[in-house]
Amino acid sequence: MSVPGGGQRTSLHGFWSSRLAFILAVTGSAVGLGNIWKFPYMTGEYGGSAFVLVYLGAVLLVGLPIMMSEILIGRRGRRNPVTTMRLLGQEESGSSQWQWVGALGIMGGFLILSFYGVIAGWTVAYVFEAARGAFAGAGAAEIDARFSALEGSALRTGFWHTLFMLLTILIVARGVERGLEQAVRVMVPGLLVIMVVLLVYAAGTGAFGQAAEFMFRPDFSALDGTVILAALGQAFFSLSIGMACVMAYGAYLPQDASIGRTSLAVVAADTSIALLAGMVIFPIVFANGLDPADGIGLVFKTLPIAFGSMGGGVLIGMLFFLLLSFAALTSAISLMEPTVAWVMESRGVNRGVAATIVGVLIWLLGFATVFSFNLLQDFRFLRGTLFANIDFLTSNIMLPLGGLLVTLFAGWFMSSNSTSGELDPQAGTGYQLWRILVRWVTPAAVIIVFLNSIGLLDLA
Ligand code: TRP
Repeated sequence: MSVPGGGQRTSLHGFWSSRLAFILAVTGSAVGLGNIWKFPYMTGEYGGSAFVLVYLGAVLLVGLPIMMSEILIGRRGRRNPVTTMRLLGQEESGSSQWQWVGALGIMGGFLILSFYGVIAGWTVAYVFEAARGAFAGAGAAEIDARFSALEGSALRTGFWHTLFMLLTILIVARGVERGLEQAVRVMVPGLLVIMVVLLVYAAGTGAFGQAAEFMFRPDFSALDGTVILAALGQAFFSLSIGMACVMAYGAYLPQDASIGRTSLAVVAADTSIALLAGMVIFPIVFANGLDPADGIGLVFKTLPIAFGSMGGGVLIGMLFFLLLSFAALTSAISLMEPTVAWVMESRGVNRGVAATIVGVLIWLLGFATVFSFNLLQDFRFLRGTLFANIDFLTSNIMLPLGGLLVTLFAGWFMSSNSTSGELDPQAGTGYQLWRILVRWVTPAAVIIVFLNSIGLLDLA
């Protein structure tokens, strides 16, 4: 049953035009609201440097090996994640039950996109706020009130969420590659340039040193099981791993592209943009006497202060939120792709139909998040609002669990023949290192964090 040397199966949905196209697509998936919206507010909420340092460790020891595993599994299976895991499960371990890993991923992507679309909607709304000069000369209090008004209005938040989901459905319906490559080529460098401009502004606030200390000066007094689990979950979320999203993209990767180098490039870009976002946002927080633990509105309450007081702020602010909307769009597409590929292959419908059905269902579910900030803001259980629960369930449970199963499969169930055939057979030591990580280090780290967070083990 084995596929000698791999590469026998061919993709059902076409191939990326080159390795660069694939890097761009995975970078487009990874770089998004996770870097610029979520990373800074989580860092603020979970005590700064302790969170950042655990996050960086998780990216290297857990994120990178899992990303490589997902890509290699995707490329070897060449189908949607459910079918790929079933096929490879049969070939490598004699069990088709591995398909549930793909199914878990599809559910995860579904749930994540439901709230992602809402936050992305706010980003689109802010393109227009910036363009009409709403931030010009505004102080922290006025900017805070503006955000509260948007989040507090079910109608406005629902409207922008709807618009964003419509765009996502349209793009996915047309196929992953068309347009995506161009969007990412402009978006990532553009975002970097604006972030550097903002970094210069942040350096001039006088609180740059305080922000650097908050983020990087080792202080583990805030460290506990919750922080460690949150940092691990954020690494999964930011790198787009643990829900077979990168696996779905890997299915379209040409056989000769290097998985190791590709993953390294994506991880480096993703992590730099997150750290940069923190170094821009926290100086503004401290210089204006804001609370770093303010929560999910942090990026919307800080950056507008900068745009409102810097020269050319209207244009720069508008461009920033426009690029961030694009970044969110390229991530949203990737969140929908596994489900759409699965619906197409298992129901035999075309891409347009699949994207519409899946997109409409996710859009409807998104109202659970829309209402979490207004009509249902007092409806709280377990972790808080509906949004808080969906976020916790996906980032802190489903993604790490999916990632754990992927690394166990790649490390223990796939033969070293299969995995070394997909990774660079020439890069001997690199391969050995990857194998030690996926067999021992990565699964042990995820299991220990899980045990620690439910109190069965006492790390911190
Ligand atoms: N990584 C994206 C971000 O940081 C979000 C995302 C896209 C994602 N695809 C994913 C998160 C798959 C988890 C799994 O904004």
